[in-house]
Amino acid sequence: MTPIKECLINKKTDLIPIWLMRQAGRYLPEFREIRKNNPNFVNLCLNSKLSKEITLQPIRRFGFDAAIIFSDILMIPYGLGQKVEFKKNFGPNLADFEINKLLEIDQEKFTKNLSPIYELLVDLKKSEDLQKKDIIGFVGAPWTLLVYMINKVSPKNGLTSNFFSDMGLINDLLKILDKSIKTHIKNQVNAGATIIQIFDSWSGLIKFDFDKYLYDPTLSLVNYTKSLGVPVICFPRGITDYSHFCKIVKPSMINIDYNVDPRNLIKNVDIPIQGGLHPEVLLTNKAHLKKEVNKYLEIFKDHPYVFNLGHGILPETKTEMVEELVKIVRDYK
Ligand code: CP3
Repeated sequence: MTPIKECLINKKTDLIPIWLMRQAGRYLPEFREIRKNNPNFVNLCLNSKLSKEITLQPIRRFGFDAAIIFSDILMIPYGLGQKVEFKKNFGPNLADFEINKLLEIDQEKFTKNLSPIYELLVDLKKSEDLQKKDIIGFVGAPWTLLVYMINKVSPKNGLTSNFFSDMGLINDLLKILDKSIKTHIKNQVNAGATIIQIFDSWSGLIKFDFDKYLYDPTLSLVNYTKSLGVPVICFPRGITDYSHFCKIVKPSMINIDYNVDPRNLIKNVDIPIQGGLHPEVLLTNKAHLKKEVNKYLEIFKDHPYVFNLGHGILPETKTEMVEELVKIVRDYK
């Protein structure tokens, strides 16, 4: 059994497993080298040979316990036919779409549009570098994908004031997304993903109708993934009540963000926990890193825990700090 799977059966592991969100990305010089020659990010995600290389880069360097596939949550809108571009120093930029065209797309066509991602998984499965490690496939949660599809740019760049102006559109999109996200989960599992993580990066923006935008759609995906026999990790970033979320949605493991007080949470949550450390701690120094990492390790010493961050690793992170982090976690007894 892999170290993360052991933790997922709600067992306290002797050694704490570790991987990092966004571990395959811009803080790695070897990623930046490939990226330099591949200016189109979506095409890079659809190049299974290079995606495989990028997925394995952090595994070779740091020996993490899981590889997360190099892809993006916005490949779902892309698969549905909405154009997606990533602009330098700006982020994602999505094009307008016609809802009728999205309603017409069949799941076979959607699967075909994303087929290189499944080829990547099939290839990874054969990799020598991933013996006794998990291969994490992932999806965006319906709410977060809805936000990008309607807002067209990251909410970091501002949220359009007429977001909720067309409820018919929102309801149609929620239906399309539920179906297509499930197709994407199933295809990833069939191709070899051993765990699925659901990223709800913008769930903190939900201010009303929590059932409709957060609990119901996520529960639907969690139950579906479990029915395929695969564990599912949820990351509802920025919500105020993680323990309530766990009670309703019941993921196999919960990834907490850096605003969650782990001491408090542990009293109210009886499922395995992942993550928490503020990614900015990796921008400080080794002594401070050790202090902060040990804080999480101490708090979780009697609880099934996978070490990870409270959001994605920042591009300005130095690789020596990641090496140090892995060493601190591996040496902890
Ligand atoms: O974790 C990994 O290493 C696997 C790959 C991965 C990427 N994106 C690659 C990527 C994963 C799991 C994601 C998830 C993702 N994508 C999320 C959820 C997690 C989170 O960070 O909140 C979101 C919201 C996106 C959408 C997205 N993709 C944005 C907003 C951006 C631009 C800004 C940014 O944060 O980088 C991307 C681009 C992106 N996705 C890059 C990478 C390596 C950078 C691309 C580049 O080289 O410019």
